[in-house]
Amino acid sequence: MKVLITGGAGYIGSTVASACLDAGITPVIVDSLVTGRREFATDRHFYRGDIADGALLDQIFAEHPDLDVVVHCAALIVVPESVTDPVGYYEANVTKSLQLARHLIRNGRSRLVFSSTGCFYQPGPDGAVDEDSPIVPGSPYARTKAVCEGMFADIAAGTPLRIVSLRYFNPIGADPKLRTGLQAPYPTHALGKLIQAHDSGRPFEITGTDYPTRDGSGIRDYVHVWDLAAAHIAALTAFDDVLRGEEYLPVNVGSGTGTTVRELIAAFDSVVEEPVQTVESPPRPGDVSGCFTRSDRAKRLLNWEPQYTIAEGIADSLRWAAVRDSVLSVAG
Ligand SMILES: NC(=O)c1ccc[n+]([C@@H]2O[C@H](COP(=O)([O-])OP(=O)(O)OC[C@H]3O[C@@H](n4cnc5c(N)ncnc54)[C@H](O)[C@@H]3O)[C@@H](O)[C@H]2O)c1
Repeated sequence: MKVLITGGAGYIGSTVASACLDAGITPVIVDSLVTGRREFATDRHFYRGDIADGALLDQIFAEHPDLDVVVHCAALIVVPESVTDPVGYYEANVTKSLQLARHLIRNGRSRLVFSSTGCFYQPGPDGAVDEDSPIVPGSPYARTKAVCEGMFADIAAGTPLRIVSLRYFNPIGADPKLRTGLQAPYPTHALGKLIQAHDSGRPFEITGTDYPTRDGSGIRDYVHVWDLAAAHIAALTAFDDVLRGEEYLPVNVGSGTGTTVRELIAAFDSVVEEPVQTVESPPRPGDVSGCFTRSDRAKRLLNWEPQYTIAEGIADSLRWAAVRDSVLSVAG
């Protein structure tokens, strides 16, 4: 089996490519390297270029006519940047995804797995969401993903292209074999701040302790990126069975229970020698209690649930941080 991965030199796409290799699937990568790293595509079929470039896509399909499925990870993903550059974000994430869809249909492709997000849901009172929860995007970035999903649902209804949207929450960790990981030194979410606090010896601030969660601190849905990659392998290898006759289907890929900030700290302390110091403070403007997803659909259709604990995800993030600079100096 052979799979085209757009954005396959980025954090998630490169991890999916590694998981493909381990599963005996050949990944072919197309990436502009706008944020991705050439090192992450070492020893893999690699095309440097843009997903909107029809001539490039035609060349890839001519050279790899046996590509069965396309995994579409390519996007810009920085929320504050999407607020200051909405035009750039709609162009990168929506316009280019539309052009990609056109190139796929023109080349007779019929299976697409789309990297979507769970960050656009409005959670219920218990913080839980599922695929039918209201979608209320809180940023231009989140809205580009929601617009893409609507666009893909329409395209699937009117063309032979069939689409599974995997909605990710907060990936942590790295490929357990440390072939790839996060390009940036620190994750942007609470784990990044925890690692920074630990490295600097400064206390970690728990912002908000009175939320309606099981321990009062905020809740998020962290999933090991290798588990996320496994969900892609499940979606790729059983694509037609997953869809069960549907043209378009969203699937949340999350933990089922979520992790509170206090639980994240406890997991962190279980894998480091010196526990991190903490201070408690009120929520900052714009802070929310957060959400997590029920994962019944992923369990039922992908036969998938996370295998890694949060502590293992944190440990792999730290192991990756220790080798990141040496991996990223392999190629320019
Ligand atoms: N990281 C997260 O927390 C998260 C959460 C939910 C969803 N997602 C989605 O997962 C996908 C991958 O995210 P990531 O964290 O790996 O980000 P990333 O920035 O590491 O990877 C994105 C990759 O896409 C490439 N790219 C961007 N635009 C391109 C274009 N027009 N043509 C070719 N390549 C292009 C970049 O160079 C990069 O390698 C994105 O679609 C993102 O929206 C990520």
